[in-house]
Amino acid sequence: MLDLFAALDVDDKEKAFSLVESLKPHIKGFKVGPRLGFLLNENEWKLLADAGEVFIDYKFYDIPSTVLSAVKRSFNLGASYCTVHAANGALCLEELSALEKELNSIKPFKILVVSLLTSFDQDKNKLPLSGDKTSDELVFKLIDLAYSAGMRNFVCSPYEAKALKEKYRDIFLVTPGVRLNSGAVHDQSRVATPEFAWKNGADYLVTGRMLTESSNLINTINTVKEQWQIVKKG
Ligand code: C5P
Repeated sequence: MLDLFAALDVDDKEKAFSLVESLKPHIKGFKVGPRLGFLLNENEWKLLADAGEVFIDYKFYDIPSTVLSAVKRSFNLGASYCTVHAANGALCLEELSALEKELNSIKPFKILVVSLLTSFDQDKNKLPLSGDKTSDELVFKLIDLAYSAGMRNFVCSPYEAKALKEKYRDIFLVTPGVRLNSGAVHDQSRVATPEFAWKNGADYLVTGRMLTESSNLINTINTVKEQWQIVKKG
């Protein structure tokens, strides 16, 4: 099984479940954002959880009580992972860390912290109120904040994974922005191959359009498997 989530970024449930059927023998899990999630009923969430690990990626950002309820709802829907923003602040992150321990005593569950969205940069699309800080400084500041609050699971780009793993030895990293060399980049700017991401410390990869738009899904998966074998052989 590849340590990889397929991002089910599609608009219709039939297409989503057909991808799930094809991919479930090969990958660990499925990532669902609002685009598909708003269409699913409780039974369909259960079907997904039966097929693999479910990652609910709604990136919660709100007052602490609302964020905590949203995380609990994700857990009750059968998710094994969900996302929250580091910018929720220390108080909320401390409460999330306690909640994560409590939920983990029932079944494995990781709350992944998102630092700086990859759509922000230092020039045209700066994070509001970020002052003169570079994107890297912001990422480390936000991850420091979350780490100090007890959070250990993060989303980052494949290019940040190595430095983060060197600084914090006990963290778990999920990296989107993954493409095969020959594949289209779409709206992502800093993409990397699965081999690069795994080699640089990613624990799990997320990839969407590389799979959902593939003209030969099995070929694509086989190429990813070859890269996985290279990494495992070291
Ligand atoms: O199709 P593609 O592989 O670019 O999809 C990447 C997925 O990962 C999308 O669902 C996107 O919302 C998500 N994501 C991301 N960058 C982040 C966090 C999540 O691309 N920093």
